[in-house]
Amino acid sequence: MVHRLGVLISGRGSNLQAIIDAVTDKRLAAEIAVVISNVAEAGGLARAASAGIESIVMPQHQWPDRDAFDGALAAALQRRRVDLVCLAGFMRLLGPAFLEAFPERVLNIHPSLLPAFPGLDAQQQAFDYGVKVTGATVHFVSAELDGGPIVMQAAVPVAADDTSDALSARILAAEHRLYPQAIKRVLDGQGRLDGRRFLFPI
Ligand code: GAR
Repeated sequence: MVHRLGVLISGRGSNLQAIIDAVTDKRLAAEIAVVISNVAEAGGLARAASAGIESIVMPQHQWPDRDAFDGALAAALQRRRVDLVCLAGFMRLLGPAFLEAFPERVLNIHPSLLPAFPGLDAQQQAFDYGVKVTGATVHFVSAELDGGPIVMQAAVPVAADDTSDALSARILAAEHRLYPQAIKRVLDGQGRLDGRRFLFPI
């Protein structure tokens, strides 16, 4: 079965590009049915256009409240028969009106080893804290910010002479490798959630 992905973005879309590349190279048996951005100027929209993928801009302020926006977003994805939603730099919390439409079918990538450094500027937070290892996490999305069950993580060591920018670039490269692998693992359907733990055969 060819799965249908919906990718949600707010910015440059480099993780979107990593997913597009994985689909093109057949590392992922999926097609990207639609890209949705809540920001009209998002650079990722041009990446979707170059790949011939439909994209939609849905700025949240066009809806009266969070539930109305979440409902419209879910409906747009359901109309396109999306079966897995991938947040790729989508900088908005999704509430129950959205998550109940896609139970255990929404993934996010975050640039730290969660539960350390949730929220904004996770790379800078880790650098400033002085950790020796940080990384990237793909997790199921829950109503809690960066809080859902973890699918996969990649570790990135912090070097003694690192800068925050150099570290961020290495984390981003790790994200681009990790996200397609984690999507594949979820699409394979062999994993299951046991409480917070996502278990899959080795
Ligand atoms: C990525 O580093 C992603 O992990 C992060 O935003 C960046 C988006 O870059 N997401 C979060 O911090 C979510 N809490 P991209 O638009 O180039 O994929």
